[in-house]
Amino acid sequence: MSWIIRESGFDPERIAHHGNKFMIGNGVLGYRGTLEEFGKKELTATIVAGLYDQVGGKWREPVNAPNGLDTKVYWNGTRLSVFEAGNVAAGDKAVNSVNVGRELDHIRVELVSHEQSLDLRQAVHRRRSVFRTADGAEVAITAERFCSAARTELIVCRFTVESSRDGELTIVTGINGDVWDINGPHLVRMESDVDGAEGGAAWEVVSLSASTQELGLPITVSEAAEVASGGEHEVLREELSVRRRFHLYCRAGEPVVLVKTVAVAAGLEGETADEVRAAAIQWAREAGQLGYDQLLSEHAEYWERKWSASDILVEGDEEAQLALRYSMYQLHIIAPDRSEKVSIPARGLSGQVYKGAVFWDTEMFMLPFFLYTQPEVARNLMMYRVHTLAGAKRKAAEYGYEGAFYAWESQETGDDACTLFNVNDVFTGRPMRTYFRDKQVHISADVAYGIWQVYAFTGDDRLLLDGGAEVAWECAKFFYSYGYFNPRKQRYEILDVTGPDEYHERVNNNAFTNRMVKECLRIALDAMEILKRGNVERYEQLLADSPIQPEHIRDMYERLYVPEPDAQSRLIEQFDRYYTLEDVTLPQLKSLMLHPHEYLGGGNGLATTTQILKQADVVLMLHLFKDDYNSAVKQANWAYYEPRTEHGSSLSACIYALVAADTGSPDWGYPYFMRTATIDLTGDSKQYVGDLYIGGTHPAANGGAWMAAVLGFAGLRYDGDKAVLRPALPSAWQAIEFPVRLGGGSYRIRVSREGVTITAPRDNPAALRFIVGDRELTVAPGHEVHIA
Ligand code: BGC
Repeated sequence: MSWIIRESGFDPERIAHHGNKFMIGNGVLGYRGTLEEFGKKELTATIVAGLYDQVGGKWREPVNAPNGLDTKVYWNGTRLSVFEAGNVAAGDKAVNSVNVGRELDHIRVELVSHEQSLDLRQAVHRRRSVFRTADGAEVAITAERFCSAARTELIVCRFTVESSRDGELTIVTGINGDVWDINGPHLVRMESDVDGAEGGAAWEVVSLSASTQELGLPITVSEAAEVASGGEHEVLREELSVRRRFHLYCRAGEPVVLVKTVAVAAGLEGETADEVRAAAIQWAREAGQLGYDQLLSEHAEYWERKWSASDILVEGDEEAQLALRYSMYQLHIIAPDRSEKVSIPARGLSGQVYKGAVFWDTEMFMLPFFLYTQPEVARNLMMYRVHTLAGAKRKAAEYGYEGAFYAWESQETGDDACTLFNVNDVFTGRPMRTYFRDKQVHISADVAYGIWQVYAFTGDDRLLLDGGAEVAWECAKFFYSYGYFNPRKQRYEILDVTGPDEYHERVNNNAFTNRMVKECLRIALDAMEILKRGNVERYEQLLADSPIQPEHIRDMYERLYVPEPDAQSRLIEQFDRYYTLEDVTLPQLKSLMLHPHEYLGGGNGLATTTQILKQADVVLMLHLFKDDYNSAVKQANWAYYEPRTEHGSSLSACIYALVAADTGSPDWGYPYFMRTATIDLTGDSKQYVGDLYIGGTHPAANGGAWMAAVLGFAGLRYDGDKAVLRPALPSAWQAIEFPVRLGGGSYRIRVSREGVTITAPRDNPAALRFIVGDRELTVAPGHEVHIA
């Protein structure tokens, strides 16, 4: 039961939400959870990871590929669709050209039932809609689809029609290039073709090819389709589409099955249009020949492995169980497990929203899930930052700094997709100057932090030698050139920044930023030592002619100011003079809003002159550097900042859950955990900032849900040497059980009200030290240890 996400009934108002909720993907392709009969108005999207385009001066964004699942069904000439139910498809081009020899007008259809579901275990989306037609037939359409985890270029769909009466069935299915775009159209020179018509419908492959506007990258979507019960078909080619129309006679109780194998190929590595097209055709055809069952079983095998590496059992809380699994599902479908050239965008592969850009979300909110369950993916995510270092250096140079200033919104080259005017004012329609791109400097420290996490966690210095050390070093250089040495106070300061709380821009000495910069400097120094040992030539190259040398970085590290807890109140001021801002309550502030989407930050946003913050900021620092602060400090800051936090970002709630668990108050944290874990299930999240649509999935929150459960409630931490467990289960939970990969070995950890059990398989490479509460023990390969 808790593997299935289900929604019954059809509500046009929920189309966009369901598009996110029922997403499928394989890290290379993301396909929105829309229905087969939907088009651009319903926001259908096939997103190819790493493929971006820009049209005119508009924002660069991901390319939405032609929709290969486009399908329309007609029963005795009447269109069956969740929309059309109640209407006749009269006037519809496709049906008009079907010579069904009938008077179509006035025939009505009724939608008897409709259900959409997602099987998380196998990552398969299903829809079932039952229609009652004017002739009294009950016609059920069932469609099942998945983005193959085994063949990442492939989307597979099995479409079944079954009727209670005999009748004529027409299925028009193919590839629709008329797609939803925010700042498009991105695809030009669209051409269709048909390959290998001799063999009839089965292995005849239809394709739609085009190229992107900005870089002229080729893309082809090819489709092989097979209808088991035969029938005739013809190819329909239009300007922006290619489809096939199958005419069939459907007998009562005998299902008609259509299997579509859709391949999407793009020239991301310099392939020519011909190569891309040939590959897509071959992939679609090969897959078609293998057949649905075979494709599903190889796909399911991959998913079995993903789940055995990550699935969590929560006893006593069905809702949390499902939400947590669903959160991991969302991460799995967008994880670049076979590429180090892409990372995970802030809205996953759910569309063009947020420019398909990668933010600090990946390093700070998603990385831990992968580190603890699939460290190879964590490495890929950080290699993406190595590959985009050149873009980060260009950005630093653009602003007159040394080193690497990573993009606030990063795409395939690492150049910043973030604009200086990122939000439009809802009242005037005018673009507002925001300081995300040029002042949210913590991004470079977040990147270095992520790289060090992978190194410390795996104990493998290859990431550092393969460019990771260089990234950390360049980031440190950037901060050295950005920092200010205050001669009066004899300390370095970081001035004029925007911290995680974006409502307060251009502040001085944001505690989080300064602490992260300090960490970045430390990481750079340590990473350079490792580089010196592993590749002295590269080490020397990096230092030759550089005005900034390790001793400068060390000096800054030692004398960098990080705001400290006040001795009495224990509070850490978020930035210089934060306390002088007006101290209003959140309800007071919200009561002043004139528009539901008005932006609270920016030049004259309501929050900017107050202490209301957008998202966890100081509290995030307390989570990341938990050893530096005692419980009393954590509690005091949690209690102070939480009521002042708007949680206007989906990155916020999980951090409050984590720090609550850390201070032994899991029940305080629980509602924040649930809010995080259910965000894409309920659709309860901000959809607009100003007039900017920001809907889509929320991978950072998905990663936050995992963190809150495993690092928070189970209280697990691994520092590369030993694992520590300090559980704090919420009242409703009887137990939590999960697999992790630590120090090259696999472990299964169960934390229950009775105790902690740790199991290690026999083939683990070595024993590992655990500290559970105040007990220290070693778990050897093949052993199970129980601590009451
Ligand atoms: C948050 C950022 C986040 C971005 C993408 C913004 O609303 O304030 O911290 O990186 O969304 O998720």
